[in-house]
Amino acid sequence: MLVVFTLQPNPEIFEYLGQFSEYGVVTLDVDDKKNDNTCQIYSEQPAFWRAKLQELNLEYEEAPFANPDYLKQNEMDFEPFMVGQYFICHENHNHPTPHDTVRFNINAGTAFGTGRHATTQICMELLGELAVLPIQSVFDCGTGTGILGMVARHQWPKARIVIGDNDPIAIDNARTNFAQNHLPKPIYCVAKGFNHPLIIKNAPFDVVIANILYPVLHQLAPICRQYCQNFLLLSGLLSQQADLITRRYRANGFETIHRIDSGDWAGLLLARV
Ligand SMILES: C[S@@+](CC[C@H](N)C(=O)[O-])C[C@H]1O[C@@H](n2cnc3c(N)ncnc32)[C@H](O)[C@@H]1O
Repeated sequence: MLVVFTLQPNPEIFEYLGQFSEYGVVTLDVDDKKNDNTCQIYSEQPAFWRAKLQELNLEYEEAPFANPDYLKQNEMDFEPFMVGQYFICHENHNHPTPHDTVRFNINAGTAFGTGRHATTQICMELLGELAVLPIQSVFDCGTGTGILGMVARHQWPKARIVIGDNDPIAIDNARTNFAQNHLPKPIYCVAKGFNHPLIIKNAPFDVVIANILYPVLHQLAPICRQYCQNFLLLSGLLSQQADLITRRYRANGFETIHRIDSGDWAGLLLARV
């Protein structure tokens, strides 16, 4: 039976819980107005989460999940919104597109990346800063719904775009999102980091994007040095982790040229030196 746990973790705990995705779907609702984050964990293995949440000394509520079709509920709750020039809608909604905007219809399913999260929005803004450059190749590492790959595809229609994720469901979802937005196909890879023959074959890249967690970004630094030849966009970082990542990547041949903070989160644009 599907069980839902509801709790109010701090961002570090939320990131930590996200690592156990094989035990369930961990979601975060951010209410900017109330400055409130509510995390929900949907799982068919509640014993694991009870033990984990108790180990972390976290208060939580647990209830059987009455509506098994929570993806449908997510769809109904999805209100369209703007990020820069992008108007982001659920694929099944037919809201009219505002003038002078670029519409993306997204169905996130269980993948991360509706565009609502601060880290995704930071990456979209940093990508926009590179829009005028003649970028020819992009690797979006940890693509989730494919949203950042879609922005890259829109900015550089002729570039070689490779998108990867270690979650095959995310790649399947990204494939659907590219298709339903009539965007030319990227190269899809189910891969941990750069670890896929098609990623290596298409490297080095002008731009590498990675909106993943701090430990993964830390680990990827030497390989980014090998396979990223110009710009690197990193997010998924808590503000207090950004300086550590700046130092780690400086030691691997990158200088931070712009940092954006939003709430507790940060993102970095780095250039090869
Ligand atoms: C925070 S989400 C970002 C999704 C999307 N790029 C965005 O900005 O909204 C991180 C994604 O990275 C994937 N991921 C985590 N570790 C990874 C790894 N080592 N290699 C590739 N993908 C990874 C997760 O499955 C998830 O889809």
